[in-house]
Amino acid sequence: MLDFKFCYFGTLTSTNDKAKEFSKKGLSNIVVVADKQTKGRGRFNRTWSSGLGGLYMTIALRENDLDNVKYLTFIAAVSVAKTIRKISGLNAKVKWPNDVLLNDKKVCGILTETISGKENYALVGIGININQKIFSKNITKIATSLKIETNKNYNIKNISKTIIKNFDSLYNYYNKKNYNEIIHIWKKHSHTIGKKIKVKTLKGNYIGKAVDIDKDCSLILKLKNGKIKKIVEGDIFSFPACTRSTPF
Ligand code: BTN
Repeated sequence: MLDFKFCYFGTLTSTNDKAKEFSKKGLSNIVVVADKQTKGRGRFNRTWSSGLGGLYMTIALRENDLDNVKYLTFIAAVSVAKTIRKISGLNAKVKWPNDVLLNDKKVCGILTETISGKENYALVGIGININQKIFSKNITKIATSLKIETNKNYNIKNISKTIIKNFDSLYNYYNKKNYNEIIHIWKKHSHTIGKKIKVKTLKGNYIGKAVDIDKDCSLILKLKNGKIKKIVEGDIFSFPACTRSTPF
């Protein structure tokens, strides 16, 4: 078990920024939580909507090597999905590579960043839509919150504590390098596997069926021509609800 220390803030630019500051001072096993963020960010530097009512937290961990941090993103996603299932009864599912969905809409995104130097750190940033009732027009069709799904308000602090409990127990597999078990548990919560999807990568776009997740967290896609394509990084869109032009 890791002994996590929670640090709460009102407004931050980004909990990942604050966690970075702490890590540079040599602190680890810290959970930075903020009520709101002024520069919340997602993958590929996209903006993460960060007003009051959401949970914005970053787990800062000292790591010997940073080659396997993708598994941390996976265990964070499963920890969030398990927490949501427990507190709301909703069927939260994980979407490759870093999201959690409720009824096909995004409720959580995870941004894992690293710091390397004399000591290495992984910063696992988690954003969850909890008590928000509305989102800006550009994401309203693709985002949801626990409030929107259940018409109830939730205690954000309790949710952050439960996520850390779940994360802590899954982190044991990570520590023991039992990555197969992490993949296995992620797959049990998967929204992605078995779906016909479009994948956008920096090298091009592909359409096919998501058939598996590789042992290194890559997505295995079966293309229309029957060939198997391994996708290491990208964004995926499901059919027929594949109407989003920009991911968030
Ligand atoms: C994504 O979907 O692309 C990832 C979104 C991650 C958002 C969280 S909110 C807490 C932490 N601080 C940030 O600035 N980003 C992450």
